[in-house]
Amino acid sequence: MEKYTEKDYYDQIKDWNFDEFQILAEGYTNWDMYDVLKNVTNEDSKILDLGTGGGEKVLSEFPTNVKEILATDLSEGMIETANENLKKSGRKNVTFRIMDNKKMNVPSEYFDVVVARNTVTCPDQIYKALKPGGYLIIHGVDQYDCHSLKRIFGYGQAYTDTKPISVIDYEAVLDAGFRDAELIPIHEKEYFKSKELLYKFLLKVPILDEFSEEDENGFKDFHLNQIDEKKLNEYISKNTYDKGILLLRRYYGIVAKK
Ligand SMILES: C[S@@+](CC[C@H](N)C(=O)[O-])C[C@H]1O[C@@H](n2cnc3c(N)ncnc32)[C@H](O)[C@@H]1O
Repeated sequence: MEKYTEKDYYDQIKDWNFDEFQILAEGYTNWDMYDVLKNVTNEDSKILDLGTGGGEKVLSEFPTNVKEILATDLSEGMIETANENLKKSGRKNVTFRIMDNKKMNVPSEYFDVVVARNTVTCPDQIYKALKPGGYLIIHGVDQYDCHSLKRIFGYGQAYTDTKPISVIDYEAVLDAGFRDAELIPIHEKEYFKSKELLYKFLLKVPILDEFSEEDENGFKDFHLNQIDEKKLNEYISKNTYDKGILLLRRYYGIVAKK
């Protein structure tokens, strides 16, 4: 196995686009972070998106009628892709740049909303960046995500964590001084049309990587470049339905106010 840091991992992937996997997603939680974002923004709003990836969500899901969106990521590869996507979009009020969420370098009390989807956060630094009354919106991958798959493999992201990632994040948000903080469990079913699509998906995402929120270093020295087919077949034989091969996803949302 090769030694990979989290940054190497994302630099190699270069985008966070999942169109090629043709996933059929069925949400059964009535909460959408982009509805919340729309509700708390207007034409004067300044938004910061942390760990933006290739800017896919900023350019497709964020409100367009706002004053300014700054979207940042640690990975140069991701920011390169984001800038290419930005050019194609023709948007004028969006800027992408490199920044580490753990060493945020933005003006104090400048943003109306900070968004962080499926990325690491430092709520105390986010608190400083927000105007009084500003909002923090987090979306994350929770403990027990794809748990039956991880049980068959015996490893995976957060598989051995003793405390749910959502609770660690929620407590950090409260500790930072936020108020009106809500923690929302999000359950989703994702179906894959074929084993090949699921296999390729599992190579792209860190679901089967050993990655723990409890561990300061995040990723351990582990990145998959192949998947045990016997174990995958076992999973598929137990989880195939009319709609396809099922992955049970467990996410969480956090909304809080400064
Ligand atoms: C799972 S992707 C999510 C991308 C995007 N937010 C989305 O939801 O589509 C996680 C992103 O966080 C970035 N990231 C990881 N650690 C980071 C850090 N310390 N600072 C900034 N970005 C980071 C990665 O480079 C990657 O692009």
